[in-house]
Amino acid sequence: MNGASPGPSPCAPIVPSSLAGPVLCLETSCDDTSAAVVRGREVLSSIVSSQNELHAQFGGVVPEVASRRHTELVNEVVAAAMSAAGVGWDDLAAVATTQGPGLIGALLVGLAAAKAIAYRRCLPLIPVNHIQGHIAANYALGVEAPFVCLVASGGHTLLAVVEEGVAYRVTARTMDDAAGEAFDKGARLLGLGYPGGRELDRLAAAGDARYVRFPRAVPRGRDFSFSGLKTALLYDLRGRDVAEVEAHRADIAASYQAAIVSQLVEKTLTCADAEGLRSIAIAGGVAANSGLRSALGERCETEGLQLALPPLSLCTDNAGMIGLAAGFLPALPWPTYLALDAFASDSEARPARPAKRRPRAARPAEWS
Ligand code: KG4
Ligand code: ZN
Repeated sequence: MNGASPGPSPCAPIVPSSLAGPVLCLETSCDDTSAAVVRGREVLSSIVSSQNELHAQFGGVVPEVASRRHTELVNEVVAAAMSAAGVGWDDLAAVATTQGPGLIGALLVGLAAAKAIAYRRCLPLIPVNHIQGHIAANYALGVEAPFVCLVASGGHTLLAVVEEGVAYRVTARTMDDAAGEAFDKGARLLGLGYPGGRELDRLAAAGDARYVRFPRAVPRGRDFSFSGLKTALLYDLRGRDVAEVEAHRADIAASYQAAIVSQLVEKTLTCADAEGLRSIAIAGGVAANSGLRSALGERCETEGLQLALPPLSLCTDNAGMIGLAAGFLPALPWPTYLALDAFASDSEARPARPAKRRPRAARPAEWS
């Protein structure tokens, strides 16, 4: 899109104003089609249409299938979010959408929809980084920076020192799998459905975490590693007969979950200590894990640290968190936002460049 004429403007270029009004937000970075209306730190509505059932038959997200489904769902989900918030189109101050990282085809659906809405409604557009969205979910709880945030999802596991708003510095990341991947792969080995994290969590609640002593040895330094744990589970299961696995599936799940959680908790507390911060937050789909929430809760209480646990609806992918992050980010006026491209990974992120040629056409008569 860069360099192309942005076409006729439906209205005069917008100068970003203070966004006191509600923002319509979109999130389509993976397999959830989500729209929300957010005002400041208040999520007025958040609609998430999950594609889990669609992808379950393949045992994982199929990118092309996800993009097509987003296209089918996006208008419906936006209409539902607007209606649930009781907000009219004329009340909106801006549109926000996830720009990346994520599945490129899936991201493009949300970005194209957001551009179309912004153009038609004469609104500025706020591109949001998905990780910043996850972190910002904590602002719904009234958390104030600086804090250490454990971001653990299906695609990312990192420790962020959030310095102000959604500006953060990464102090640790995973050397191999993300924590959510470790949950999903473990769930698959245990014969659970897709997506596995939530199922494994549910099963683990009924199990004895002392049943298998999975390796707790974590890599030296600040980074995470989960691939060895997954291999340990594989070999543990291979060493048992079918009846034994059947009888102790919940115990094995609880033991495996405890090993993942222990690494997440220890690394997070070490980071807070090293950074001299007394406030901890968690974010991403794995932040919904009940074992992680209770273990971190206990440790923070013992250590006298403040802990923010976002509601489950703001942990897994949702557009509400995108709106919470948008409040800290610049709104791009027309035609600048037309040049935005989605990006699959942070290393590919590019700022939007203003379109080279300004259009000659003023507002078409039929729009007034
Ligand atoms: O943040 P998210 O919805 O999407 C990404 O950005 O990746 O995270 C999805 C990940 C999946 O791996 C899923 O299995 C995991 O979060 N997850 C959980 C739980 N709920 C979702 N993992 C452990 N326990 C849960 N309760
Ligand atoms: Zn996510």
